[in-house]
Amino acid sequence: MKICIILGTRPEIIKMSPIIRECQRRCLGFFILHTNQHYTENLDRIFFKELNLPWPKYNLNIGSGTHGVQTGKMLIDIEKVLIKENPDVVLIEGDTNTVLAGALTAAKLHIKVGHIEAGLRSYYKDMPEEINRIVTDHCSDYLFAPTQNTKKILISEGIPKTKILITGNTIVDTVYQNLKLVKRKSKILKKLNLKKDKYFLLTIHRSENVDKKEKLKEIFEGLKLIYNKINLPIICSIHPRTKKKIKEFKLRIPEGIKFIEPVGYLDFLNLESNAKLILTDSGGIQEEACILKVPCVTLRDNTERPETLEVGSNILVGTDSEKIFIGVKKIIDKKRNWKNPFGSGKSAKIIINELLKT
Ligand code: UD1
Ligand code: UDP
Repeated sequence: MKICIILGTRPEIIKMSPIIRECQRRCLGFFILHTNQHYTENLDRIFFKELNLPWPKYNLNIGSGTHGVQTGKMLIDIEKVLIKENPDVVLIEGDTNTVLAGALTAAKLHIKVGHIEAGLRSYYKDMPEEINRIVTDHCSDYLFAPTQNTKKILISEGIPKTKILITGNTIVDTVYQNLKLVKRKSKILKKLNLKKDKYFLLTIHRSENVDKKEKLKEIFEGLKLIYNKINLPIICSIHPRTKKKIKEFKLRIPEGIKFIEPVGYLDFLNLESNAKLILTDSGGIQEEACILKVPCVTLRDNTERPETLEVGSNILVGTDSEKIFIGVKKIIDKKRNWKNPFGSGKSAKIIINELLKT
């Protein structure tokens, strides 16, 4: 069987890494096609090096652009590679424009599509990723749903049960595989002069949150409130989209927030594991906080990860400053005894087993 793994952004590289390792372990025929939707060293190559992944056979150098331009270029260039390579199956993970383009191109060429992390829905169509999720799921032949809930969603949309398999989420595999290395290799706490439970960790990059000046300003007001009342530093790994917008809107950085450039996976896992609490609008970080037993405040009104709300590791607060602060107070001292709903860290094995059955 010839497998084509398509990826393009930071979270896809991270969440595909266990699949790539499993393919290597079993000596399967596979190759990686990277769209380079992310291309900056610390959003891209750092993860290949750190996670010890083979370099992609194809780098498409698509880069940034409007949705139409970015996705359109991907369709054209992915098609050329798929025609040349003619793989048996294309694997994609998540909900980015890379995922949409990979699924659409493969489906039109009658190549089987396996969607890892299928069935997630925020039910908020202004979020570009929601469109990508729906279209990708409906183009796919293998729907690797992380949880019972996501399987139910797919069935309710008319996708045949026979195409769906509950696998857990590969992020659990990634976290478990790398947590052991963190103690040995990551020096980030020392470098930033941080102590366990004595700081908050923040990430924010969703276009709905950062592309509007008023929203971003209101979030900053919330962070100011937190710092004024709780007085712990807020460490923010700054996404390039957010950095660009802060500059464009000429926003002042509130006291107490320390911006750092995006860091590698081991450093970030270290920062997450030792934080008092995580504030984020990231999908993957809601999951990781839950797995690492760190309370999470999500700066959104909805989530496609309701399992984290159900187990109590996460709360949704939106972007109103008062609500952000109230949310932090509510969850900060929560007992960290919830169960991780995303599987036992064997998702990659389950997914590859399923592919090899056919
Ligand atoms: C993309 C995904 C989002 C995912 C996120 C992970 C879509 C629609 N969005 O959002 O689902 O959560 O990746 O981080 O697919 N930029 C750089 N260097 C890079 C990449 C981007 O400087 O390597 C800057 C550019 O100014 C670019 C902006 O960031 O215009 C946004 O990049 P883009 O890939 O369009 O979306 P993300 O916000 O990264
Ligand atoms: N991450 C990282 N370094 C950072 C910030 C995040 O390695 O400085 C990792 C994080 O551990 C998670 C992933 O990036 O696995 C989340 O990516 P992002 O928030 O960009 O995307 P999303 O999950 O929202 O699609």
